[in-house]
Amino acid sequence: MRYQGREVDVEGRVRLVMESALTARDRVGVQDFVLLENYNSEAAFIENLRRRFGEGLIYTYIGSVLVSVNPYKELEIYSKQQMERYRGVSFYEISPHIYALSDTAYRAMRTERKDQCIMISGESGAGKTEASKKILLYYAVTCPINAHMATLGDRLLQSNPVLEAFGNAKTFRNDNSSRFGKYMGVQFDFRGAPVGGHILNYLLEKSRVVHQNHGERNFHIFYQLLDGGDDNLLTTLALQRNPQNYSYLVKGNCPRLSSVSDKNNWKVVMKALSVIGFAEEEVQKLLSIIAGVLHLGNTQFGEGEEGETCITTETHATNVAKLLGVDVSALGEALTHKKLTAKGEEMITPLNFEQAMSARDALAKAVYGRTFTWLVEKINQSVALQEEIYHSGKGCSVIGLLDIYGFEVLQHNSFEQFCINYCNEKLQQLFIELTLRSEQEEYEAEGIAWETVQYFDNKIICDLIEEKHKGIISTLDEECLRPGETCDASFLEKLEDTLGGHPHFVTHKLANGKTRKAMGREEFRLLHYAGEVNYNVNGFLDKNNDLLNRNLKEVMCQSHNQIVSYCFRREEVMDQKRPEMAATQFKNNLMKLMEILGSKEPSYVRCLKPNDAKQPGRFDEVLIRHQVKYLGLMENLRVRRAGFAYRRRFEAFLQRYKPLCPETWPNWHGRLADGVSTLVNHLGYKAEEYKLGRSKIFIRFPKTLFTTEDALQAKKPEIGECKNGFPEWRCKGRLLVIILPFIKGFIYRHEDYCPENEYFLDHVRYSFLKNLRKNLPRSVLDKTWPTPPPSLVEASENLWRMHMRNMVVKYCKRVQPEWRKQMIQKVAASEIFKDQKDSYPQGVGRLFLDSRLEREQINLKVVQTLGSDKVQYGVPVVKYDRRGFKPRPRQLLLTNTFAVLVDKTKIKQRIDYAALRGISVSSLSDGMFVLHMPNEDNKQKGDVVLHCDHVIELVTKLAMMASKVNYVNINPGSITFAVARGKEGIIDFVRGSELKVAKGKRGHLLVIAPQINNI
Ligand SMILES: Nc1ncnc2c1ncn2[C@@H]1O[C@H](COP(=O)(O)OP(=O)(O)OP(=O)(O)O)[C@@H](O)[C@H]1O
Ligand SMILES: [Mg+2]
Repeated sequence: MRYQGREVDVEGRVRLVMESALTARDRVGVQDFVLLENYNSEAAFIENLRRRFGEGLIYTYIGSVLVSVNPYKELEIYSKQQMERYRGVSFYEISPHIYALSDTAYRAMRTERKDQCIMISGESGAGKTEASKKILLYYAVTCPINAHMATLGDRLLQSNPVLEAFGNAKTFRNDNSSRFGKYMGVQFDFRGAPVGGHILNYLLEKSRVVHQNHGERNFHIFYQLLDGGDDNLLTTLALQRNPQNYSYLVKGNCPRLSSVSDKNNWKVVMKALSVIGFAEEEVQKLLSIIAGVLHLGNTQFGEGEEGETCITTETHATNVAKLLGVDVSALGEALTHKKLTAKGEEMITPLNFEQAMSARDALAKAVYGRTFTWLVEKINQSVALQEEIYHSGKGCSVIGLLDIYGFEVLQHNSFEQFCINYCNEKLQQLFIELTLRSEQEEYEAEGIAWETVQYFDNKIICDLIEEKHKGIISTLDEECLRPGETCDASFLEKLEDTLGGHPHFVTHKLANGKTRKAMGREEFRLLHYAGEVNYNVNGFLDKNNDLLNRNLKEVMCQSHNQIVSYCFRREEVMDQKRPEMAATQFKNNLMKLMEILGSKEPSYVRCLKPNDAKQPGRFDEVLIRHQVKYLGLMENLRVRRAGFAYRRRFEAFLQRYKPLCPETWPNWHGRLADGVSTLVNHLGYKAEEYKLGRSKIFIRFPKTLFTTEDALQAKKPEIGECKNGFPEWRCKGRLLVIILPFIKGFIYRHEDYCPENEYFLDHVRYSFLKNLRKNLPRSVLDKTWPTPPPSLVEASENLWRMHMRNMVVKYCKRVQPEWRKQMIQKVAASEIFKDQKDSYPQGVGRLFLDSRLEREQINLKVVQTLGSDKVQYGVPVVKYDRRGFKPRPRQLLLTNTFAVLVDKTKIKQRIDYAALRGISVSSLSDGMFVLHMPNEDNKQKGDVVLHCDHVIELVTKLAMMASKVNYVNINPGSITFAVARGKEGIIDFVRGSELKVAKGKRGHLLVIAPQINNI
């Protein structure tokens, strides 16, 4: 086969195709393995990876699965510009990238409202955690956010350094190895903005707290604290700076890391804790626990005078007790004795030296493990979805990120590898189920007959591990609980009894010849979907029991350190029921995880590491082959390639290849399906090579596509394509393709949408929307709006309405309660006075106050008389006698149900709102007003004539409180008011130079109101 014109032959059978890649970029190998001609060949697969890796192309697809090879060096492909490049671009149109996968998941979530999950797997050091951080950063940078969301995004991002400090460690394989599995769900609101998050953690490797293999370290936080903590802090925690002084830190003989600075990371972690919202006191408590664990490790035992086990390092024990907030003697007792309950009676038995050591280690592991869980919970509280969003009913969509250990095959595999590999077995089951499901759904949606795919169903292995009563986990649990002498060997025997003969299970005893030679006597072998793994049973029972003596738990329950007492609940000690065993706990957690993942649309990132030396540029083929096998990548490819290798939407296919057929070039005006059909007939596709669905073409073999692509490449000079993939401006092709349809479109622009004007109208619409986006009004008062083309008038009106509504909603949300109250009053004032009274513009322009009288200005006796009727508003007024119009200064006080006129210490008149018949004011700028009261009511003294400097404010408040907004009369020339016994009085109003209230002609009151400029 040709490869840039050359024949390429790798390992005899392998032939690499595809120099004419589907895009102009990355013409190295195939960028999607489904286009690999010989898709059954592992060698071809690896060769493709190798070639791309050699060119710094670390990403390749298998359909929608992203395969990533750790470059072990910084590549310049993660910048903000790169993020922009991938934003909103179709997955296949651009070179493979983690951003493309992130963006596709994000858009699917937004447009289809479907929850997504991105599952990242691979062995230690392959780049899972780096990948998950890149995805998270992509969302943090590209998603729409506001101030609250920015804080939330920060917290989500900052959770990484914290979790890494407490949950990562240097191992032989990775300087920053995650020693726990992590699922992080990020919630997005209906606008696609991140609004919350939730983290689930799995299987922290607690044994690392007390033991590390040679060349490995304990969790980073211990070293960070010793290196980065200031002298005062270390003194408070009774710590010395040298890690060599702590026996929990010397096992691996590796106190320092060359690749990272513990001191710098310490600062990062402390800052992150504060961003996430940890209080200083909490951080102190947390660090006390870390220090407490170190002192616990240094607590040693010896033999007392009577041969009993006792603590020989009092200082450390005292420090442990102090730091963990427990009683020192109770702790000492609990570390050297065991409390048993037999037949309802409690018995205390002393521990021997080894038992005391393992009780101490068990305590260290439990304290650290539970503190880690507390930490995750605490982060969860900080990034939790806000209540109001949760209850808003608008619903959130989720993108979950799963960063979990891949298949692990070490030289000695133990309980941990068993759990990890079981987890991968479950993930594979889910992968097959979901991949097949989505393939099937796509075929159905496109109306193409489903072709059955042969694949290995690993249910048989999952059952072997997890089945009730029969499976390995059940057997292990039974063996842990069984009375009498049990040990790892008896567990192995039990397995042989129950599972002997199972096609995926074998032991040394059950095996024959060759297999037996490859197995130890203490091992059982599982034939996983990915390959065989031998597990050594030593330690299985202890690790599954994960026992912490009850008396130690009791001591911890009483801790003064809130984190410790939170982690060791009293109920746990009271509860006589045995807690779930470790493997069962893990199994149950895994079931829940499968449920979470199964309800989402999956995407996959499969990470590979190219060499064990963590070096850039080295591609170790043996190592890669091993990972390709254990990640099941060939099976991935086989399932994906089972039907059709390639599928594209009609428009994309036609758009790309239309130059190859005279009938489709430069434009096809009929149905898209007919266009594609015409094109492929012209190209001579045979019936078995392709199928047309409802909206996509499915091509069975890559070579069909390559030939087509080659033809296109050959045609390009003819159609004038320049090096960027765009036709050159001045060339003939460009004129034909763009300018002519434009001119034609202009001529036909008033016709209905038709082939002649479609390009032009689309362009006009597009330009309008683009212009609109830039020129959207920024406030509700801004009434400008770009003029739409005729075809978009209705859409433009709808958009205007939506935009206005949106701005109004945003504005209202921002309004504080105080301001809201003010606005409601101003609206009422406008309803009453606008355009009717001269002083309205000034009156409404000022802030309405809660009261015009200070509290001390209202007489105490008056307040007491009013009792429970609180004064809501008070203002100085002048009351005019209705006969002689003598002015008298008064206070008018408004309560919720009535108003009173007060003369210094005395309430002179009470005006019930219920009885108030109306309020009259003039249309001029004066402050006169009349409260009309019923004549016939003897209790009320008749109409009241008043003057107030704040008449707009006062009358508005009074009318609102009394619910009499519609009873305010505005009189242009005069107001008539009732004097006792049917007599009436009149106030005349005229404009003048200054305010004057005096007796006028015919016994009327004359009010001269000053002219105001605004009229
Ligand atoms: N895309 C990348 N670009 C540059 N370096 C990378 C990339 N991915 C991984 N690395 C390097 O590889 C190291 C290991 O990666 P990472 O910690 O993500 O592995 P992992 O798969 O999470 O391993 P473990 O299972 O042990 O946690 C990183 O510390 C980093 O140095
Ligand atoms: Mg990791």
